[in-house]
Amino acid sequence: MASSSSSLTIVACLLLVTICSTNAQLSTNFYSKSCPNLDSTVKSVVQSAIRKEARMGASLLRLFFHDCFVNGCDGSLLLDDTSTFTGEKMAIPNNGSVRGFEVIDQIKSALEKACPGIVSCADILAITARDSVVGLGGPTWNVKLGRRDARTASQSAANNDIPQPTFSLSQLISSFQKQGLSSSEMVALSGGHTIGQARCTSFRTRIYNEKNINSAFAKTRQANCPSTNNTGDNNLAPLDVQTPTSFDNNYYKNIINQKGLLHSDQQLFSGGSTNALVQTYSSNPRRFSSDFVAAMIKMGDIKPLTGSNGEIRKNCRKTN
Ligand code: HEM
Ligand SMILES: *[C@@H]1O[C@H](CO)[C@@H](O)[C@H](O)[C@H]1NC(C)=O
Ligand SMILES: *[C@@H]1O[C@H](CO)[C@@H](O)[C@H](O)[C@H]1NC(C)=O
Repeated sequence: MASSSSSLTIVACLLLVTICSTNAQLSTNFYSKSCPNLDSTVKSVVQSAIRKEARMGASLLRLFFHDCFVNGCDGSLLLDDTSTFTGEKMAIPNNGSVRGFEVIDQIKSALEKACPGIVSCADILAITARDSVVGLGGPTWNVKLGRRDARTASQSAANNDIPQPTFSLSQLISSFQKQGLSSSEMVALSGGHTIGQARCTSFRTRIYNEKNINSAFAKTRQANCPSTNNTGDNNLAPLDVQTPTSFDNNYYKNIINQKGLLHSDQQLFSGGSTNALVQTYSSNPRRFSSDFVAAMIKMGDIKPLTGSNGEIRKNCRKTN
């Protein structure tokens, strides 16, 4: 009996592949028939957004990271709060900080014209992250696709699972470990801080209170980030003091020179287990590029919704 009912289950599963394959694989050609203009559509919107404001490339890369670390790459970050729904946008690491949602809307509406109801918002984030890195001079890769969109979001998971700039090296390592990412992958992905900006509130304590900081660099940053808590909190400074709109390996050179902007950045080169890899990336940009790409692909594999789980949202800001 048991064996005949289990072979029945197998037959049913073969017929209903989409329902049974809860851990279906993502694939790079997922939309090649259903939305052949996907790549060119996303690329042109991202390129024009970056032409308007180079920082937008950084902001879009960060959206993918903040989506994937909170219950997987499922577009949950994109859902707006309503009177009856609490999303992730107001979570501490996101509120007043994540940006770029209008660009995602623009891509989604172009895709809804080209191939209605086909491309998930979660996949849009994945392609947008790649095109942003490429648009700022970084490496390219084939993006795995086939993620579906969450019908839920979690503000508390966003608060708990997105690493904080105050974290120590061991906290950073465990935060990535929780997502199935190694300490080395954490170091490679942190190279995302070769582009973009941070608010004074995120680095104030470091520039006034820490010892492992280049003193001229600290002075420069202090000039636009007052020591008084709550004053100038939103004043911006580049995460990469040298080339904040070029995706390169200067981030690692900076932290070797004690010019990491965030406490967490400098933790990667503070005499701990990650020092050697920082040295490697600082002197070997090709090795950084290939490790960054591999780690981005792995981050994109975090708990995707596939098959018949989730939905393909019509509007990235709300569930269908
Ligand atoms: C390792 C742990 C990480 C921590 C603690 C961290 C923390 C932060 C903080 C505090 C900011 C500035 C936010 C603000 O002040 O508004 C920031 C910005 C940014 N982060 Fe991270 N981050 C981490 C990893 C990553 C990863 C893995 C990526 C992407 C691969 C990334 C990409 C970015 C980008 C591009 C920005 C600038 C965004 C913009 O200019 O709009 N970060 N991060
Ligand atoms: C989000 O930020 C705004 C302004 O920066 C603040 O007024 C609001 O209280 C914050 N919301 C939460 C949930 O922290
Ligand atoms: C801001 O306040 C926090 C605690 O409220 C304190 O730890 C920190 O040192 C203060 N920042 C500066 C730059 O004094």
